[in-house]
Order: sequence, then C-alpha cells, then structure tokens
Amino acid sequence: MSEWINKLRDSHADFDKGGLIDSIGNNPFDGFSLWFDEAISNNEIEVNACVLSTVDLSVLQSTSRIVYLKELKNEQFIFYTNYNSQKGKELLENPKASLLFFWPGLQRQVRIEGLVEKVSSEESDAYFASRPRESQLGAWASNQSEILNDRNELIFRLEELDAKYPDHVPRPPHWGGYGLSPKLIEFWQGLPSRLHDRLIFQKMDNNWSTFRKNP
Ligand SMILES: Cc1cc2nc3c(=O)[nH]c(=O)nc-3n(C[C@H](O)[C@H](O)[C@H](O)COP(=O)(O)O)c2cc1C
Repeated sequence: MSEWINKLRDSHADFDKGGLIDSIGNNPFDGFSLWFDEAISNNEIEVNACVLSTVDLSVLQSTSRIVYLKELKNEQFIFYTNYNSQKGKELLENPKASLLFFWPGLQRQVRIEGLVEKVSSEESDAYFASRPRESQLGAWASNQSEILNDRNELIFRLEELDAKYPDHVPRPPHWGGYGLSPKLIEFWQGLPSRLHDRLIFQKMDNNWSTFRKNP
C-alpha cells in the first residue's frame, strides 16, 4: 500500500484541461445543466452518479453513498431510493443533505447542499413505471439497509414477488424520489499549479449571491 502511494505521489492530474470558470452565467441550474451536458459530450463514465451524504442526528455521524441523479426539475435535484433505507431514515430526521459530482476527464467537481423532500407520489409512480420489471421487483424484494442473514432469502422473495405480480408491478409505498433544493452550489475547475477555480452560488433570502474561494 505505502509503495503504491509513493508511486502515485507524483502522478496526479496536471489539471490542465480547463480554464477559469466563465461559462456558468448567473443561474446555477443552467450552469449545472451546461456542465452536465459537457460531461456527457466528454464521455465521462457514470455522469449522473453522485455522492449523497446524510447525517444521523442521534450520533452526529455523516454517511455517504452513490445515487443516480434522475432529473433536475423545478430547481430540484431528484434521485430515487428506498424511504426505509438508512439514508431515508436519516433524511426523515434531518433533511439537510449534500450531493457531490466528480467528472475526472474534465477535472471538475460540483458540490450541492440543501434540503431534501419527497417528490409527489404521482412523480414516483411515473418513474417507477418506467423502470425495467427486474428493477421494479428488486425494489420490493430488497429491505434496503436491513441486515441480510442469507442471500437466498432475497432470491426467494424475488421469486415470490415475480409470481405475485405476473403483469403490472405496483410501486412499493416505501420506494420513491427525493428532491434536493439547493442552498449552495459550488463549481470547481482544476487548474495548473493547484490554483483551481471555485465559484460558489449561495442562496440568501431567495437570491443567489456568488463569490469565489481560495482553492
Ligand atoms: C453507481 C451506483 C449507483 C447507485 N444508485 C443508487 C440509486 O439511485 N438509489 C439507491 O437507493 N441506491 C443506489 N446505489 C446504491 C447505494 O450506493 C447504497 O448502497 C444504497 O442506496 C444503500 O444506502 P444506505 O444504506 O446508506 O441507505 C448506487 C450505487 C452505485 C455504486
């Protein structure tokens, strides 16, 4: 491990792919959409994968995991999950969360912080209905974040559900979307000499103020 770390020490990116952030404009959502589209054009892998961090208020412990961003709509970043999962329980007690995107090919990072709320059941129904049958059955079969003593339990439940719902699979009531309404969005562009550019949008009294931070 330490040998490996020594080898990597001088092999990090040169951060020479971008310039100062001048394309974002005044609206951080348009700015995010622009960078997202550029990440797609740049063939970044898993463009819509982001790190979702939540905090368990009872022990003040943060936890992170990857989720897929499914939509940016009405100024909300939307992802789908199991409402009874660890993240779901944490968000119920403490709706403050963050999302983090990393697009290494473009040497860009976007940090988003804000409040999370469930999307409407109609919206969750519509998205659930668009998913492949296997994913729909999986959403029923998995008691996400609960201890699993035997993997066969999961396979057995899936087979049972497959028989129970031969045609239409309804959305489990404990599965659906969350929308994160940001209070802060930070665009980060890697630049040479570690003089990276950080452009921050912060919402104050319903207006976005912008400023830069030292890298
Ligand atoms: C690339 C990738 C995408 C994922 N997308 C989702 C997702 O959209 N929703 C989800 O609930 N879990 C997703 N997961 C699984 C989560 O990272 C996590 O393991 C799971 O949601 C349980 O998290 P929790 O126990 O902290 O609640 C994804 C994992 C990876 C690696």
